[in-house]
Amino acid sequence: MPRYKVTVVGAGMVGGTLAQRLAERDYADIVLVDIVEGMPQGKALDITQAGPVYGYDSVVTGTNGYEETEGSDLVVITSGLPRKPGMSRDDLLKTNAGIVGEVTENVKSRSPEAMLLIVSNPLDAMVTLAHKVSGFPKQRVIGMAGVLDSSRYRAFVAAELGVSVRDVQGFVLGGHGDTMVPLPRYTTVAGIPLPALLPPERIEAIVDRARNGGAEIVSLLKTGSAYYAPSASVVEMIDSILLDKKRVLPAAAYLEGEYGIEGIFLGVLCVLGAGGVEKVLEIDLDSDERAALHKSADAVRELWAATQKAMETPTPA
Ligand code: NAI
Ligand code: 2OP
Repeated sequence: MPRYKVTVVGAGMVGGTLAQRLAERDYADIVLVDIVEGMPQGKALDITQAGPVYGYDSVVTGTNGYEETEGSDLVVITSGLPRKPGMSRDDLLKTNAGIVGEVTENVKSRSPEAMLLIVSNPLDAMVTLAHKVSGFPKQRVIGMAGVLDSSRYRAFVAAELGVSVRDVQGFVLGGHGDTMVPLPRYTTVAGIPLPALLPPERIEAIVDRARNGGAEIVSLLKTGSAYYAPSASVVEMIDSILLDKKRVLPAAAYLEGEYGIEGIFLGVLCVLGAGGVEKVLEIDLDSDERAALHKSADAVRELWAATQKAMETPTPA
């Protein structure tokens, strides 16, 4: 198996756990970048020292600069502020736009052939920004949210039915926010459609909990947002891309007419492989599902417009 080079920018909770999970996969060397002096170096050393116990040879380097990132196959951007209780993802907009824009500038010249995987929130706006700043082709700029939102949804379905998560298949489309679109009609448990197993009100309760899954964790943690499930979700996408597994996963991809939507990044089912987003799968939606997806697309458009406006507005001294 080839050894890949993956850069993770932002060595906080998501970036740190992501570096750990990826090192344990043992097919990539990892460069961990953060602005906090000593922190990415310390985490890199710590992960390296777990190698003999776990048996991985991944080389993990921590740094406060970008020289070490040169020639990365894939760059994950997790840098930025996480949510605090009472904050919406959109509150993070201006600060994180500045950070993601600067980070993208730094990685694009050093790793011009890399895949860009964006995690920072508000996700749908940050992935659009990274696409714009990098100038990379649409297939190589991908946002992570759908795998996480779908994983939460699948976990809730499995718990409700008392069955293994392995037997629950399902996905969430749309933006990473209150307008996300879980699709019970396409959710199955060992092949059995969910609506045949649960009454509509229980399904609605699960869908609601999945929609608010991020906020539920923020309100419990109080000092930040989720990171175990987010980092696991990123690794599933990296596996599919670097190992060319061609998994069918929900991801924020650039749409050019699919579902009658164009010119924005939105969570849709994608084939992820060595070419990045190799295909956007356009599934049949009924009129309610289609309306929900279009509502979500409108919310993402508004978010992007607000991001552009915020970036033009000077920060008060
Ligand atoms: P965190 O605060 O633990 O880590 C963020 C790190 O970014 C910090 O270590 C900070 O020093 C670093 N950073 C800030 N500015 C930087 C810069 N210019 N260059 C390099 N590093 C910089 O936050 P956490 O929990 O890791 O979350 C990171 C981001 O990911 C947040 O915006 C959060 O909302 C988002 N997120 C998105 C998810 C999704 O589904 N798309 C899921 C979970 C988190
Ligand atoms: C989440 O959904 C914070 O967006 C992040 O947990």
